[in-house]
Amino acid sequence: ISRGMATSSPMRSAINHVTIVGGGLMGSGIAQVAAQSGNKVVLVDVKEDIIKKAEESIVASLKRVAKKLHKDDHAKGEEFVKSTLANISYSVDLQKTVKSTDLVVEAIIENIKAKHTLFTSIDSVAPEHTVFASNTSSLSIGEIASVTKRKDRFGGLHFFNPVPVMKLLEVIRIDETSEETYQKLMNWGKAIGKTCITCKDTPGFVVNRLLVPQLGEAVRMLERGVATSRDIDIAMKLGAGHPMGPFELADYTGLDTTKYILDGWHEKFPDVELFKPVETLNKLVSEGKLGRKSGEGFYKYNTTK
Ligand code: NAI
Repeated sequence: ISRGMATSSPMRSAINHVTIVGGGLMGSGIAQVAAQSGNKVVLVDVKEDIIKKAEESIVASLKRVAKKLHKDDHAKGEEFVKSTLANISYSVDLQKTVKSTDLVVEAIIENIKAKHTLFTSIDSVAPEHTVFASNTSSLSIGEIASVTKRKDRFGGLHFFNPVPVMKLLEVIRIDETSEETYQKLMNWGKAIGKTCITCKDTPGFVVNRLLVPQLGEAVRMLERGVATSRDIDIAMKLGAGHPMGPFELADYTGLDTTKYILDGWHEKFPDVELFKPVETLNKLVSEGKLGRKSGEGFYKYNTTK
């Protein structure tokens, strides 16, 4: 169905103004790609200094995109950065921001209580038509939505890091998500340049549900002495065509993040063999070896760069 033919008010059905809550790694990326596609974006966080950092990272990332897009035309590149930045504003006042927004994308810390507090605080303030979405990696969208009175206007928008680079967007429907909301989320995802897939509200959605247990299995393989981590990585790159092996990927994502996801699933589904705790992973995390960000995980990294 073409968007122009929508029977309900077209003014209300299009998403033009978005609020991104949480200006960390993911939130700043989401704000950037939305602004690049012409959305009016407000990025909300709790403190001014965090917002300042988010702004700096967006400017730096946009300059990289500009260099790629307009290699031979410096002026065009500058214009691209300037016009994108003009679409983004920043705020620490979430309640005020959501009063005029079509979509709220939540990308705050991965904590159900924090997410509940956030959505409770905006449910009665945001306009009727406003759609709420969470970028959670491991929590249930239905559980997050449960505190709101707009479950029909609630869904998951699961982006991948780094957001400006990764093309995939997982759009998650809970049982209550209305067809209209689902279409709005899919259309918005496409409009900001992502390839969207649809998934039910299950642990890890599609990508992490396959990747996280695979890492667990890779570590168990290492523990059994089947092969070295380096050889397992080479095997998966050259034999399965993966751009990174499981250990490289875990180091890149952060071992604490992987452990956190696995622990959460294990607690909820204690009988699922693939979600069981992984000894070596837990040991590395307890030693502060979290992967690239701490200089060491399964591999050692040169932290001077
Ligand atoms: P982060 O720690 O980089 O950023 C979180 C930001 O949220 C911080 O700037 C923090 O100040 C802010 N924040 C916390 N509570 C807030 C509140 N009540 N209101 C406004 N801002 C608040 O975290 P990251 O990595 O960006 O993750 C955010 C969400 O995205 C999580 O739910 C995570 O599961 C999900 N996610 C993370 C991915 C990753 O690769 N890091 C990938 C896909 C999803």
